[in-house]
Amino acid sequence: MAGIDYTERIPNNVALHENRRLQRALEDWQPKFLEWWQDMGPHGFQAKEVYLRTAVSVDAQGWAKFGYVKMPDYRWGIFLAEPEAGRQVNFGDHKGQAAWQEVPGEYRGTLRRLIVTQGDTEPASVEQQRHLGRTCPSLYDLRNLFQVNVEEGRHLWAMVYLLDAHFGRDGREESEALLQRRSGDSDKPRILGAFNELTPDWLSYFMFCFFTDRDGKYQLASLAESGFDPLSRTCRFMLTEEAHHMFVGETGIMRIVQRACELMREHKTDDIRTHGGIDLQTIQRYLNFHCSVSLDLFGSEISTNAANFYTTGLKGRFEETKKQDDHQLKAATYQVAELDGDGIVMREEPALVSLNERLRDDYVADCARGVARWNEVVRRHGIDFELTLPHRGFHRAIGVFAEARVSPDGRVISQAEWDARRSEWLPTEQDKAFVQSLMHAVTEPGKFANWIAPPARGINGQPVDFAYVRLG
Ligand SMILES: [Fe+2]
Ligand SMILES: [Fe+2]
Repeated sequence: MAGIDYTERIPNNVALHENRRLQRALEDWQPKFLEWWQDMGPHGFQAKEVYLRTAVSVDAQGWAKFGYVKMPDYRWGIFLAEPEAGRQVNFGDHKGQAAWQEVPGEYRGTLRRLIVTQGDTEPASVEQQRHLGRTCPSLYDLRNLFQVNVEEGRHLWAMVYLLDAHFGRDGREESEALLQRRSGDSDKPRILGAFNELTPDWLSYFMFCFFTDRDGKYQLASLAESGFDPLSRTCRFMLTEEAHHMFVGETGIMRIVQRACELMREHKTDDIRTHGGIDLQTIQRYLNFHCSVSLDLFGSEISTNAANFYTTGLKGRFEETKKQDDHQLKAATYQVAELDGDGIVMREEPALVSLNERLRDDYVADCARGVARWNEVVRRHGIDFELTLPHRGFHRAIGVFAEARVSPDGRVISQAEWDARRSEWLPTEQDKAFVQSLMHAVTEPGKFANWIAPPARGINGQPVDFAYVRLG
C-alpha cells in the first residue's frame, strides 16, 4: 500500500523524488500556491488552529487523520488512488486497449482543456467562500468550511500535478494561470459561470456545497472512468474527499430546514422571520437559484464535444463500468427533454451526443434523494410543505432552455408571466438582505446561530461542543 511520503517538501505517493524535473516544477509552483492561499484563502483565520483531517495514505485507514493545523501549514500534496492491475480503456473507440499511462498525442489539447476546466473550479470555490468565516453559525460549521477549503486547495494540486507531469511547458503555463484567474473578476474570471457567483452568506454556502459541488462529484466520477489512467487515479482519490463536501451541504440545509420547522411549531406561524428563522419559501427560492446555475455546468443537451470525449476514451459516463451495454453507444439513443414551440417534449436522440444530458439526469436523481431527506424533516414536524427541485428548464443560461422562460413546475411561459412571478421563484433583494441580517458569528463552543439547528453529532467522534477551531 502506497503510504504518503511526508518527509518530502511536497507530500506525495507518486515517488516524486524519482522525477527531478517534475519535482522542480512543482517546488517552483508551491510558493506561488501558498501566496495565492494567503491572498485568496479564508480571510482572517490563517493563524488559527483548526481541527482538520489530513490524508496520510490513500487506503481506508489512512486517508483521514485528525488534528489541529494552521491552514497555511496544511500538508497539501499529491495523492493518487492505487493503480488497478491490468486496467483498460473501458469505453469508446479504444475500448479493450491497455489504459494509457501517457497522454495520447492526438488527444493532448482536449485532455488538457478537460483538466484545466475541472482544476479551475477548485480554487474558484475557495475564493468565493473566503469571507464566510467571519459570520460562521458555529465553530463546528467554521471547521467544516475550512476542511472543504483546504481540500479544494488540494484538488487544485491534483490537477496541477497532472498538468506538470504530462503536458510539458503548456501544462506549466496552465498551472500558473490557475492561480491568476479570480472568481467574479471581469478581466480574468474563472472559467465556469457558477464559479463566478458570490457566496455571500451561509445559506448560499450550503446550497453551493449541495448543488454546485455535486456537479463536481459527477464530473470527477466521469473523469475517474477515463482511459488516461493518471487522471482516473487522481479523480478516484478526490471523490473520497468530495463525499464530505456533499455531507456539509446536505446536512447544513437540513439543519436550517429543521430550525425553520421548530420555529413554525413553537410560534404557530409561517412567518418565522420575525423570530430569526429562515422561512421555507426563502429556502425554496435559494434552492431554485443554486440548482439552476448548477444544471448549466453540465453544458448543452446535445453536444458533439461530449460525444468526442466519450468516443476518444477520455471521459466516461457516471458508473461507466457498471452499465450493461456495449460501452460504445454508436447505435444507442437517449431520451432528451427539448423545447417544442411553447411546450417541452421528450425526444429520442443519439446517445453519444446526449451524454451531457445523461450525466445531468444522474445528477438530478442524486439531488432529488437529498431533497426527499429534507422533506422528511418537514413531515416529521407535521408541517404541510414540500421543497421541490425546479424543472430543468427553469432559469437556464446554457442549452435549449436558455431561449425560453420556464416556470419551476416546467411550463413554458411568457416574459410577462416571468417578470410578474420572478420574485416568487428566485431570491429577491429583500430575501438576500434578510438572510444577510442573520449572519453574525457564533464562536462559543457548542453554541449555534438561531437560524440553524445543531448537528446530530460532531466530527470524528468529538462532541458537538468541541473547540473545532481555536480562536484564542
Ligand atoms: Fe474539489
Ligand atoms: Fe468539493
